[in-house]
Amino acid sequence: MTTPNYRQLIKKDKLPRHIAIIMDGNGRWAKRRFMPRTFGHRAGMSSLKQTVKTCAELGISYLTVFAFSTENWKRPQDEISYLMGLLVEYIDKEIDELHQNHIHLQVLGDYRSLPVDSVQAIDLALQKTAANQGMVFNIAINYGARDEIIKAVQHLGALIKQGQLEPEDIDEYCFSQALYTKGLPDPDLLIRTAGEIRVSNFLLWQIAYTELWFSSLMWPEFNQEELLKAIWEFQQRDRRFGGLTQQK
Ligand code: FPP
Repeated sequence: MTTPNYRQLIKKDKLPRHIAIIMDGNGRWAKRRFMPRTFGHRAGMSSLKQTVKTCAELGISYLTVFAFSTENWKRPQDEISYLMGLLVEYIDKEIDELHQNHIHLQVLGDYRSLPVDSVQAIDLALQKTAANQGMVFNIAINYGARDEIIKAVQHLGALIKQGQLEPEDIDEYCFSQALYTKGLPDPDLLIRTAGEIRVSNFLLWQIAYTELWFSSLMWPEFNQEELLKAIWEFQQRDRRFGGLTQQK
């Protein structure tokens, strides 16, 4: 059986505006090759580069990837250090190309508590791309959705205490503006690789109506073809947002 040509099948006027990705399976991919987990993370960086490129070329407006969670601090220290180093390397190597392609980089999460060289690299990259009008590329680092929600509640609580906000004025819009994703539309499509069918504390508030799509490929194997397939399958879904399908 021949594989469909998803690039031709995809409708350019029905693209997901915002794609979120849980990049899972780096460790398992490496283990299957009798290599250290860090080898998988490095290979995962190549998949990330390709994915950013493809999304920008397709005309996706927002891409959000989960690079390091608040739970990932439980990993061995050498793996954490490697991931932090890889983040700096990724930014150093990619920032010029991201900038040339008008990509606006943002970070979701409490990145200020990362090692100082990571914070410096992130700050420089954020400054450099701040005025870019192309795809918004969000990297979630030291991000956890429950942590994000608690921080938002604390922030709104402080505003109430200072007399700047009335509790009854808190609506969905007000609450969403207190999250890291302030100003971003909710994801239309959430992709998770490595065959895991869960959302693992990622964008819990924001994915209320998001279409979920799971790939059995490990993140280092994730490629343009699989991304196009996810987008095409997304376009076949009937999104009702709690309403009814329009009758023909
Ligand atoms: C999940 O695989 C992946 C991560 C925790 C890190 C994601 C990192 C990258 C894609 C590398 C480069 C990107 C940046 C921006 C640093 P896992 O380790 O949980 O895999 P496993 O479930 O097979 O153990």
